[in-house]
Amino acid sequence: MSGSTRDSAEQESGPTQPVANATQAADALVLFGITGDLAKKMLLPALYELVRKQSLDVPVVGVTRSGWTIERLREHAHDAVAAHGEVDEDAFSRFADLLRVARVDYDEPASFRSIAEQTRGSRFLAHYLAIPPNLYAKAAECLAEAGLADQARLIVEKPFGRDLESARTLQVELSEHFPEERLRRVDHYLGKDAIEDLLTIRFANTLLSELMHRHHVRGVQITMAEDFDVADRGGFYDGAGAVRDVVQNHMLQMLAYLVMEAPRTGAAADILDERARALRAVRTVQPDEYVRGQYEGYTDVHGVRPGSTTETYAALRTFVDTDRWAGVPFTLRTGKALPASATEIVVELHRAPFGYFHTACAQETGPNLIRLRISPDAGVIFDLLAQHEGDAETVDHVSAKTDFTYLTGSGTAAYELVLTDAVSGDPRRFTRMDMVEESWRIVGDLLDPEDAPTIYRKGSWGPPEAVDLTADGWR
Ligand code: BG6
Repeated sequence: MSGSTRDSAEQESGPTQPVANATQAADALVLFGITGDLAKKMLLPALYELVRKQSLDVPVVGVTRSGWTIERLREHAHDAVAAHGEVDEDAFSRFADLLRVARVDYDEPASFRSIAEQTRGSRFLAHYLAIPPNLYAKAAECLAEAGLADQARLIVEKPFGRDLESARTLQVELSEHFPEERLRRVDHYLGKDAIEDLLTIRFANTLLSELMHRHHVRGVQITMAEDFDVADRGGFYDGAGAVRDVVQNHMLQMLAYLVMEAPRTGAAADILDERARALRAVRTVQPDEYVRGQYEGYTDVHGVRPGSTTETYAALRTFVDTDRWAGVPFTLRTGKALPASATEIVVELHRAPFGYFHTACAQETGPNLIRLRISPDAGVIFDLLAQHEGDAETVDHVSAKTDFTYLTGSGTAAYELVLTDAVSGDPRRFTRMDMVEESWRIVGDLLDPEDAPTIYRKGSWGPPEAVDLTADGWR
């Protein structure tokens, strides 16, 4: 077993105590970045869906720097919703009635009073920042100057910092105006039913809860594969790369759900504490347990620096230092332009001794696998072994498959939950600062390496050497 033990991040952070206002429901949602890409693709369609289902009825104040009129905003929202499918015009008109618009200028803090005008009469606000992270601190400061911070929650999109140090700096800047209990950090994977369901699958089924232990598990692989490339996101992606874009957040949160212990109760604080405890037990990944790749042609993408060494593929191995998981390797991989889009967790069980069979075939057929599928279709597949027809010495591979098709993994569905919680104040589907610190600690030694990534062909499974991180290849 290789890899170092945990470092000091865990000693310096701990669960945050809830205080007054922590979960107060907001009676207006203030959406910064309403004219941006995330709002167009995810937030506006999700808000419309919530209004259509009669789950949201608070005003939505769109904050712009470009002085959009309310008519223009409504038209833009309609286009964004229509891009997702058929529009229920009655529902849309209810949504349009909730929309307001406020114009701000970050160089003129007084301009933030326009938000106060649009939220007059509201008792508690939810400020959602879907803007470039370098504006977060300024926005928080301007909101405070305009008297819009004390009775409000601040919700920020990922990434939260670029590494441990910058995350801590950002935390200091934001918490000056919004203390931790009124701060929410978005990771939309936490809004995916299929990820949250890992808790139910693991702990409501004694069939599985007993098995998910080093006594039975030989190794775990987590794959988040995407068959599309960075497309028009070159400018953003090149400054991030796969580790910052999805490993530090989405994949580690998935890992936390997979390895955490059962929370004492279903209360948000108990769930958050267990997730944080799980991350504290994950070892800092060593550079020699990390393989990075870049797909061929990436440097031709608009916005990517010439000769960029940013990774579009990352594979790594770590261990979870708890009694339950000691010694079990966890191998994670993610990449753009791979052959398929799929997110799944494969739990490999120890092989049976096969004393009775004595056949090469039984050994070759492999171990039992439990595939926990997150997307595109949620469900579980058990890979089992059964006797071959008419031949007791030969073993066949059969799978038992269950689909949880009602559990959606889509981005907009996840954002419906994120936005609902942003308004209601429930913190369970956000990342707490102690988790952010642990996540940056875990990947800290992998950020910005000097060496060039391995170039891989688009549509391939990435650098072949990544297989060396696994015991018997990728499942
Ligand atoms: C985002 C990343 O956070 O998550 C993207 O920036 C990635 O690069 C996306 O494609 C994946 O989300 P989903 O919901 O489509 O799996």
